[in-house]
Amino acid sequence: FIYWRLVLALYLVTGGAGFIGSHIVEELVRRGESVRILDNLSTGSKANLSSVMEKVDFHDGDICDPEMLREVFKGVDYVIHLAALSSVVRSIEDPVATTQVNMIGTVQVLLASREAHVKRVVMAATGAAYGDNPVLPRVETQMPDPLSPYALVKLAGEYYGKIFHRLFGLEFVALRFFNVFGPRQNPKSPYTGVMSKFITAYLSGKIPTIFGDGEQSRDFVYVANIVNGTLLACEKPGVAGKVINIGTGVGTTLNQTIKLLNHILGVEVKPQHGPPRLGDVQHSTADISLARAVLGYEPLISFEEGLRRTVAWLRSEMA
Ligand code: NAD
Ligand code: UD1
Repeated sequence: FIYWRLVLALYLVTGGAGFIGSHIVEELVRRGESVRILDNLSTGSKANLSSVMEKVDFHDGDICDPEMLREVFKGVDYVIHLAALSSVVRSIEDPVATTQVNMIGTVQVLLASREAHVKRVVMAATGAAYGDNPVLPRVETQMPDPLSPYALVKLAGEYYGKIFHRLFGLEFVALRFFNVFGPRQNPKSPYTGVMSKFITAYLSGKIPTIFGDGEQSRDFVYVANIVNGTLLACEKPGVAGKVINIGTGVGTTLNQTIKLLNHILGVEVKPQHGPPRLGDVQHSTADISLARAVLGYEPLISFEEGLRRTVAWLRSEMA
């Protein structure tokens, strides 16, 4: 038993104190894996890790700092790279900051991974990379068409990873997450995702605002499905160098999400409308055939069940 524990893998989760990262860390800890976290707490928080803090090795630091990375990456087997500024709007306001963290930071993570001889790097990429390509659902073979600095530099990070795979044999997988929602998506951040904003408005008696006519659609994916897909991408053989969509395969318009929330909460809220948001993608639904084929991925929690769980969490947070 002791020998078995000694050969267990060490996972490094960059951005592990964030929304998605904290769920991945919790699942790794639940499985008995060794977990190290690197996070500068710029958008994440230690509170997100309250259930696991004593069982993880937490490092407060910036992915753009190569000296520190060298130390933190020592002995690491798997890198789950999530640290980033995760907002389209923020990237339009400050493209330099987004490029610095999401692109240069990713290159630093790749360099440190190569030097530490890690077994594999799995990076959070984005479904926003497809932009407004008219073909739906989004298949990985489509030509990307980024519409915002965020989508562009995330795409650059993917290409960097693939180049490190080709040049140096570093195992690298990019997962294009679609619109992720769930508990711990920070309701207080102005840059938070739409589901977090809508549910917070409902629960505080405010009117949700739809930017545009509400006919834009997203593949809303509950965070537990993302955890599942990410850990499969660490484990499965033969996926290095690939870019893989992780979503549900179902698109839902914002108008439909309002109807669903009205149904779940037993109310008849009518949203207000504002001008369309700059840099917005109109439709975004994932084709998840590749994830099914090469990862054995299946979305296990439906949009409605995910919404119910998120409502319950936000209720308890606001109480
Ligand atoms: P988040 O903001 O909750 O998490 C990001 C984490 O990275 C935070 O804990 C933050 O403190 C940390 N971080 C930021 N800059 C850092 C730096 N320079 N050094 C170290 N740590 C840093 O966001 P999230 O929604 O959990 O996103 C996680 C990842 O998934 C991001 O890469 C994001 O681009 C990607 N992604 C998210 C979605 C989504 O819908 N939320 C969809 C596609 C991809
Ligand atoms: C989201 C993620 C991004 C990810 C991408 C993948 C966040 C903050 N952004 O981007 O990291 O890479 O999915 O597909 O998690 N909207 C409203 N009212 C609001 C807020 C938003 O109508 O109050 C609209 C937006 O204009 C947009 C849609 O809702 O049309 C979704 O917006 P949002 O959840 O902020 O993020 P995405 O741009 O889809």
